[in-house]
Amino acid sequence: MENTEFRVELVRLVDESYPVVVGRDLEGSVAEFLADKHPDRRAAVITDSNVASLAAEGLLSSFGSRPADLVVFPAGEASKTREVKERVEDELIARGFGRDTVIVALGGGVVTDLAGFVAATFTRGVPYVSLTTTLLGAADAAIGGKTAVDTPAATNLIGAFHQPAAVFIDLDRWLTLSDRQIREGLGETVKHACIADAVFFEALEDAFVERGLSPAEFVRDDALAELTARRNCEIKRDFVTSDVHEGNRRMGLNLGHTIGRALETAAGYTLNHGECVAIGLALQSRLGERLGYCSPSDVARIEALLRAIGLPTKIPEEVPVDRIMEAMAHDKKGKAGAIRFVFQDGVGRLVVHDGGSYARPVAAEDVHAFLQSQV
Ligand SMILES: NC(=O)c1ccc[n+]([C@@H]2O[C@H](COP(=O)([O-])OP(=O)(O)OC[C@H]3O[C@@H](n4cnc5c(N)ncnc54)[C@H](O)[C@@H]3O)[C@@H](O)[C@H]2O)c1
Ligand SMILES: [Zn+2]
Repeated sequence: MENTEFRVELVRLVDESYPVVVGRDLEGSVAEFLADKHPDRRAAVITDSNVASLAAEGLLSSFGSRPADLVVFPAGEASKTREVKERVEDELIARGFGRDTVIVALGGGVVTDLAGFVAATFTRGVPYVSLTTTLLGAADAAIGGKTAVDTPAATNLIGAFHQPAAVFIDLDRWLTLSDRQIREGLGETVKHACIADAVFFEALEDAFVERGLSPAEFVRDDALAELTARRNCEIKRDFVTSDVHEGNRRMGLNLGHTIGRALETAAGYTLNHGECVAIGLALQSRLGERLGYCSPSDVARIEALLRAIGLPTKIPEEVPVDRIMEAMAHDKKGKAGAIRFVFQDGVGRLVVHDGGSYARPVAAEDVHAFLQSQV
């Protein structure tokens, strides 16, 4: 018998555009957005145990007569699992949520990653709105549509691309962050300035190097906080919209992350992500200087800004270089014998290599020798 074969023609052409709103006291704007865009959907606010006590009441009361349920899971990266996702889903089902659900993710990156992934799969997908409450969330997790949970094998291993219906960044939420959390978000912020915006970098230098702002003063400075939230999101937007499913250009966002992520693992997660990115940024600029991409004064500016913010710029003594190399080899971006790096071209621009690639390989032995020279 002859095989039968026919095609299912399915060219997807969807508009997944969404607004990003930055401001203070945004609960009312969220309620208005839901009333306007999703009037017939029942809202489920998903948050973690810390943010629940800090921000859930204000948000729910802004909904007025609109019915909304609150689903809370324990705060922390340890909750970003398939098991917690399942528990959240079971709770939604038990409370009678169905296809007419709109999810409101209220929290930092853990909440928006997990609640966004719940939204991606609940009844095969429902819309969600992100209310990002951390600076790291605003600097990175809010834009891009990547949602995921961790597994024991790797972080963010199981997930989906699911774009939010809207992102709200309420700068008032930053007022309760610890100094260390603010600095962590500023690590990603410096990365964005390094890859795409020399003027933004100068504004950060003015705030932290010249004026010596503390993290607490920074979050109270309306103009600077707004600029930081907006430029982070705009720069990330520019990279991901030209490369939604992670090909070449999105690689640019990995500046400082090749060493940074490996250091995070090698240090046994004693340093947070932003601290490791800061060290990674400082190191890649020094490696870039050796390769002719940065001048000594570029390197000095990058290090001075990171230090003024209060971020580390050196590999901690107790972390052996061999362990960093091992972690880098395990990283999915590593290739046998060579490690791919993104480099900045001075401050505010990336190096684009022949053929248009944003990353270039550096021989593992050269990386090893370089790291050894930095301790
Ligand atoms: N999707 C992406 O593209 C993307 C990008 C970067 C990071 N991430 C993910 O983001 C996560 C890290 O983000 P995070 O640091 O926001 O994590 P988080 O959500 O765990 O927040 C950190 C801690 O701060 C608390 N918190 C949140 N908002 C607060 C507030 N306003 N005041 C006081 N405390 C508050 C939380 O309860 C938590 O204990 C990681 O899981 C990472 O994988 C995702
Ligand atoms: Zn990062």
